[in-house]
Amino acid sequence: MTPEDKKRIAAEAAVGYVRPDTVIGVGTGSTVNHFIDLLAAEMAGEVRAAVSSSEASSERLRGHGIPVVDLNEVGRLDVYVDGADESNARLHLIKGGGGALTREKIVAAASREFVCIADDSKLVATLGSFPLPVEVIPMARELVAYALRELGGEPRLRDGTVTDNGNHILDVHGLSIDDALTLETRINQITGVVCNGLFAHRPADVLILGTDHGVERHTAAT
Ligand code: A5P
Repeated sequence: MTPEDKKRIAAEAAVGYVRPDTVIGVGTGSTVNHFIDLLAAEMAGEVRAAVSSSEASSERLRGHGIPVVDLNEVGRLDVYVDGADESNARLHLIKGGGGALTREKIVAAASREFVCIADDSKLVATLGSFPLPVEVIPMARELVAYALRELGGEPRLRDGTVTDNGNHILDVHGLSIDDALTLETRINQITGVVCNGLFAHRPADVLILGTDHGVERHTAAT
C-alpha cells in the first residue's frame, strides 16, 4: 500500500467519528485533504459546519459546500480531525509541518475529542526526528533562537514562511524529546514564542494509522 493509500484509509475511518448535525474542527495537510473529500462524499449535507485551522482547508471545505465558521461563533466543537508529523505511544504529537500549528492548537483545545489521522510512518518511539516547529513574533526571532539553543536544539528559520498570523517559524532540529509535557511548557515560557508544535498537554484522544494491513486505532492507554 502506498503512503497516500494509507492516509486515505485512515481518513476514511475518521469520517465515522463525525456525528450528523454537529460543528467539527478540521486541520491541515495532505491526510486531512483526504478526510475533507471523503466527508463531503459520505456525509453530504449532514455536517452543520466546520471550524478550520487554515485558509487552505477552509477553501477545500467551501469547495465541497461545507460551511466554514469562526470558532468564536460556536465555542466548543464535537470532534477535531487532523494529521500529525510525529506521534509517540502516549499520543503526544509534533505538529506544524504545514505551518498552521497555532490555529491547530486552538481548535484542538476547543474540541471534545481529537482524532489524529496518519500513515504508520508517523508513529515513533521518541519524538524529535521531525524538527519541532515554533511560531515566533518576528522581532523576537533571535532572542527565541538563543533560548532554544540553551535547551539543546538547533533552530533554523523556515525560509520565506509567514504564518496565517503574520509570524515566523523556527524549526528546531536535534531534539530527542523524552518529556514532551515539560518541554512544551518550557518553550511556551520563552518570551516571543507564540506557540510550539508539541501537542502533549492536549494530546490526541485517538490515533488512526493507515498500515499495509488496514487501519490501526491507538489510544494513549494502549
Ligand atoms: C500542519 O501544520 C501539520 O500539523 C499537519 O497536520 C502535518 O504536517 C501532517 O501533514 P500531512 O497529513 O500532509 O502529513
